[in-house]
Amino acid sequence: MGRSFESLREEHGFVPLRVEGELPRELVGTLYRNGPALFECQGTQYRHWLDGDGAITAVRLFDGRAEGAVRVTVTAELAEERARGEMLYSSGFTLGPYWHKRLFGHAKNPTSIHVLAWRDRLFALGDAGIPYELDPKSLETKGPWDLDGVKRELVNAHVRVRPSTGDVIAFGESIGVRNTLDVYVLPPTGAPRLLAAIPCARPPLLAHDIVITERYAVLILPPVHVAVTPILLGTGSPMDAISFHEAEGCEVIVLPFDDPRAVVRFRVPTFSHFHYANAFESGPDAIAVDLCRYPRFDLGTAFMLEGLRTGDAWSSAPVGNLSRLHIDLAAKRAEWEVLWDANVDFPQTHPDRQGRPYRYLWALTQRDHVDFIEKRDLSTGEVARSALPSTEYPGEPTFVPRPEAKDEDDGWVLTLAYEAATHTSALVILDARDPSKVVARAHFGQHIPFPLHGTFHRG
Ligand SMILES: [Fe+2]
Repeated sequence: MGRSFESLREEHGFVPLRVEGELPRELVGTLYRNGPALFECQGTQYRHWLDGDGAITAVRLFDGRAEGAVRVTVTAELAEERARGEMLYSSGFTLGPYWHKRLFGHAKNPTSIHVLAWRDRLFALGDAGIPYELDPKSLETKGPWDLDGVKRELVNAHVRVRPSTGDVIAFGESIGVRNTLDVYVLPPTGAPRLLAAIPCARPPLLAHDIVITERYAVLILPPVHVAVTPILLGTGSPMDAISFHEAEGCEVIVLPFDDPRAVVRFRVPTFSHFHYANAFESGPDAIAVDLCRYPRFDLGTAFMLEGLRTGDAWSSAPVGNLSRLHIDLAAKRAEWEVLWDANVDFPQTHPDRQGRPYRYLWALTQRDHVDFIEKRDLSTGEVARSALPSTEYPGEPTFVPRPEAKDEDDGWVLTLAYEAATHTSALVILDARDPSKVVARAHFGQHIPFPLHGTFHRG
């Protein structure tokens, strides 16, 4: 697994991939993945996985064939460093060499976390950065994207799609004299719009994900303080300036789509999370929010590159579980229920069940230091598990429903996996009903550095 954190060797446009098994003819579309891919900058090693410059990987499936492409997203900072032949900027955890480039918190924007396929356009997204638009035909970088004119300041990586409208719900933050949490709507037709700019007492940083119900967007902010002086003076990396204040609790923010001024907000005891699985309205004034909960998560020590390469990072990684936060909107309080007591993250559902009651969940689990993709039936508690070779490491699972499917679990689970035995990566297609069954693999001729998130786009 350690070698999957080596830098990407070769970029290329779409080329045929070697297929093992039979690709389903009904499975037509493109799987995208984003992830940190270059771990050194002009000879200087980055310290942390998330410092890496991002690359997009795409696998196009059609007529029973597979074509794959992978390309680094060339941000303005990366282009400048390449032109000058030297490292210029700080990234999240690595301090850049030039103080004048660090002033006012200017750091590299690695755009390495997620992919947005909106209409026929493609974007690479990072956390608290600026999205970059890519050419879907070649994955070449087109340039920064201002959400067609509505972007206020920073945009985060995770988005949700409302099944009832097709709207993409995105969010970000504006930091300064007036701090706001900004929620955007990117509709299937018409212009993007700012839904709400929610005032916050402090910069609303490290809110990694957003979740929706039919009528609400929900965000939970960690109790983060930012030391402004070191950021303005550039004396530390951006993450050095952030501290947690557990006694304050996390702030739950519930935003009605139809009346964005009627925000409900209250605090709950501090916990850590990155990803929501789903949320839905469980009563007239009640919302259930399912997420992967950690008692405490120190991002600064969990994913240092040295530990990932030696394997030490995994033995000390925190253990989470799938928990449901039952929110009482009228009383402004919430209670926890543990749904699945496994070490679970990267949860995914059927896209049409987002924001609605649902039965099935697919996620990455780790048991005795072995990674699995597991399907959890939330009604019965039944679990079905992948049965990949011990040297093959799956990434995020993406559920793709079979066309015309009636059942919530009828389809495929797609993942970009790393095969340590050959130091290569492949798209692995599993039977979503029973992930122990491998339907097909489509092999790249090289390794793809271990990816984070992505999406499947039909067409
Ligand atoms: Fe994430």
